Amino acid sequence: MSRVRGIGAALPERVVTNHDLEAIVDTTDEWIVGRTGIRERHIAGDGEFTSHLAERAARKALASAGCEPCEIDLIIVATATPDHTFPATAVVVQDLLGITGGVAFDVGAACSGFVFAMATADALISVGSARRALVIGAETFSRILDWDDRTTCVLFGDGAGAVVLESTADGADAGASKPRGVIAHAMRSDGSHRDKLYVDGGPSTTQTSGFLRMRGQEVFRFAVQATVDVVEDVFTRAGMTADDIDWFVPHQANKRIIDASARKLGIASEKVVLTVAEHGNTSAASIPLALDRAVSDGRIKQGDIVLLEALGGGFTWGAAIVRW
Ligand code: UT7
Repeated sequence: MSRVRGIGAALPERVVTNHDLEAIVDTTDEWIVGRTGIRERHIAGDGEFTSHLAERAARKALASAGCEPCEIDLIIVATATPDHTFPATAVVVQDLLGITGGVAFDVGAACSGFVFAMATADALISVGSARRALVIGAETFSRILDWDDRTTCVLFGDGAGAVVLESTADGADAGASKPRGVIAHAMRSDGSHRDKLYVDGGPSTTQTSGFLRMRGQEVFRFAVQATVDVVEDVFTRAGMTADDIDWFVPHQANKRIIDASARKLGIASEKVVLTVAEHGNTSAASIPLALDRAVSDGRIKQGDIVLLEALGGGFTWGAAIVRW
C-alpha cells in the first residue's frame, strides 16, 4: 500500500481572463462562465515547458514531504503535452531534479492521466518495485490549442501538480485503526470514442504536433454517466458509499459536469473542490492542482477520505479513493 506524504503545484504567471479572450475569438465572458464556470486560466510563457512546471510542482511536493530528491525511486509524469516525443518528460524532470537512479516514465491518458499515474505508482509500490514516487500531472495545453477555434480555445489552461507517494511498509501507521493511504482505484478506456476528443496530429501520422479537436456535447453526455459508473465501482472496491467521502476532487473540465456528477452520486456540494473558475481545464494537472488548493487552505486534512475522478480523450476514465 502507499500513502500521500506531500503535495505541490505550479502555475504559469500569466493569467488570461475571459475578457482577454473576447479580443481573440468571437466569444463572451457570459457564454464561457454560463457554459463552463471558467473565468480565467494560466498560460505558459515563452520558453516555459511542461517539464519546467512539473519540476516546480515536484520541488514543492518534496519540500512539503520533507524529502530529498535522492529519496525518490519512481517518477511518473501524466501529460498529453510532453516537451518532446521522447525522451519522456519524466526523464527530463528526473534530470532537472538531479536524480540519476530509479525509474521515470510518462503516462498518456489525456485528462485521466493523474488518476492512471497514481494507480500505476500505487501498484508498483504495493508489489515492492518502488518505495517513494513523485506522481505528477503537468500540461501546457495552450500549445495544442487552435486559437481560432472558439469552441475549444476558451476551455483549457496550463499548470502542474505533484504528490509524493510512499510505501506504508515502514510501519509508520502500524496499529492505526484507519491507516492512511490509497484505498482503491478503478480505470476504464474505450477507444471506440477516440474521434470525440483528440489531437489531429502526431509524429507517425502528420509529423506535426496537431491541435486539440472536440465534439463537446458528445463528450459532455458521456462524461457524467461514465464517471458516475466508475465512481460506483471504486466505492464497491473500497467498501464505501458516498456518505463516507469527506472531499470530492473531480477533474476540472466543466462546472456543469461536476455539479451533475456530484448530484447523481449523492455528494453534497460543500464537499466538492472546485478550481475550474481560476484554472480552466488543465487536463492531467487539474486534479493535483485542486488537491493542492484544498490541502493548502486547510480543507483536506490527514485522515480525510478523498475521492478523485476524471474522464479524458480516448475515452479514458477512472477514480481513486485515498485516506489522506
Ligand atoms: O477534459 C476532458 C473532458 N472535456 C469535457 O468534459 C468537455 C465537455 N463538453 C463541454 O464542456 C461542453 O460541451 C462545452 C462547454 C464544450 C460546450 O457547451 P455546450 O453547452 O455543449 O455548447 P454547444 O457546443 O452546444 O454550443 C452552443 C452554441 C453553439 O452555437 P449555435 O450552434 O447554438 O448557434 C456554438 O457555436 O454556443 C456556440 N459556441 C460559443 N459561443 C460563444 C461555442 N463555443 C462558443 C464560445 N463563445 N466560446
